[in-house]
Amino acid sequence: MALDVSVSTRDGEIIQPAQQRPAPPCAIVIFGASGDLTHRKLIPALFDLFQAGLVTKHFAVLGFARSPLSNDDFRRTARDGISHYTADAVASDKSWEEFSKCLHYISGQFNEPASYQLLRERLEKIDAGHGTQCNRLFYLATPPELFEVITGQLGAAGLNQRPDEHAFVRLVIEKPFGVDLETARHLNGSVQHAFKESQVFRIDHYLGKETVQNILAFRLANGIFEPIWNRNFIDHVQLTVAETVGVERRGGYYEQIGAFRDVVENHMLQLLSIVAMEPPVVFEAEPVRDEKLKVLKALRRIPPEQTGEFTLRGQYTSGSVDGRPVSSYRGEEKVAPDSWTETFVVMRLQIDNWRWAGTPFYLRHGKRMPKRATEIAIQFKRAPQMFFPGEERLEPNVLAMRIQPDEGISLRFGAKVPGPTMQLQEVDMNFMYGSSFRDVEQSDAYERLLLDAMLGDRTLFTRADEVEQAWAWAQDIQAGWSDRPNNVHFYPAGTWGPGWADAFIERDGRQWRKM
Ligand code: BG6
Repeated sequence: MALDVSVSTRDGEIIQPAQQRPAPPCAIVIFGASGDLTHRKLIPALFDLFQAGLVTKHFAVLGFARSPLSNDDFRRTARDGISHYTADAVASDKSWEEFSKCLHYISGQFNEPASYQLLRERLEKIDAGHGTQCNRLFYLATPPELFEVITGQLGAAGLNQRPDEHAFVRLVIEKPFGVDLETARHLNGSVQHAFKESQVFRIDHYLGKETVQNILAFRLANGIFEPIWNRNFIDHVQLTVAETVGVERRGGYYEQIGAFRDVVENHMLQLLSIVAMEPPVVFEAEPVRDEKLKVLKALRRIPPEQTGEFTLRGQYTSGSVDGRPVSSYRGEEKVAPDSWTETFVVMRLQIDNWRWAGTPFYLRHGKRMPKRATEIAIQFKRAPQMFFPGEERLEPNVLAMRIQPDEGISLRFGAKVPGPTMQLQEVDMNFMYGSSFRDVEQSDAYERLLLDAMLGDRTLFTRADEVEQAWAWAQDIQAGWSDRPNNVHFYPAGTWGPGWADAFIERDGRQWRKM
């Protein structure tokens, strides 16, 4: 049974921030401009910002890659990308005409100083032609092995320096930020050799999702939840990131990384930090990131010899998803036929601080699950005394934040079924983005993050110490797993993981949420 709750705002109006600031004049250099991320995410996001008037005409994109493309070729692929990956019709659109004039391309070698001299000359021309006022955003959309090379070359060419005192130069980096603590430290070291930390914007695209930002709004803008947001009232928290997709054509990458390092160590730890952190003193980048870091520091380490107790890995075999037969992980392109890489993980985590002591956080992530669902479920303790027949069978109160899809928040509680007896049933109070904000289009995570990077707001980007702390926590688990590499349980694609995953949580007297 679901009770719909309509969301009302003051006088039915959405309360706007003082004003939606457009980006300042800026040239964005995208390294890896012929790649998938550029066409799938970055160009469509920039086009949307352009259409919304959030980037001005004093704006330009300079694509940099090895492929020998002309400006026109780059514009054509950009337009194809928008048509292919978004719902926007661009072919005859006037705004596309205007936008495409802002797109430029330069072909170069990532490790050749001469290419960076050419880059500098092109940027100077762009500053003159587009009025971008020497403001620069360097976006690394390349494979990670090039991060160090590019930042080193930018530094050597002096492109890390502000051409004048009013200008900004920033660096945006995509994950993965290393594959363990040592590589993360090394990468941070080389990036910080050329750029100050205040110039660096590390993207975890989960932080750009509307629904993830809404966790902050939910917690910090509503007085009624804060008093119960702790170990006294919350029995446990479940975080689920379930995907129906497999590894697609990324088998080569995934083989080296696995589900834990691909999603849990970064996206899920970020979700956990936002759910568990203390309210910051002010809502600004450093205080927010300080509080998230404290959560990561309070995460109890799982000693290598105890990984079997607190974690469980799985790998999909062939099965069926969405009514379609799909191959096993071992049958995917570029995956070893005897691979033990995990495609599914569950974990039981503890946060050792006053707010959360004794309240477990269960994490569950897998590929080839029956359903795509990312959710954070806060399960409250039961009422201290039972009055009604059958009450013990009633599910405890759950606050579920659906990150995607069907974005929204629901609160489950017990209600009396109409009739002569005191019979109870669970009902849901539901807030759904789709119905409450019908006329507001949800922007893609990359739109928000690109705009914030141009505006210089680092709140939704991860700091070097957060990244290193997450890896420091993860390394014991990695060590424990490498001692027993084959301790991975199989599950048929299209199921909720190996049967052991149920036993994992049931031994604590709890159950996974049904999605
Ligand atoms: C990426 C991972 O970082 O996040 C992918 O590399 C994963 O394997 C993706 O599928 C999930 O992101 P989203 O936004 O689709 O939930």
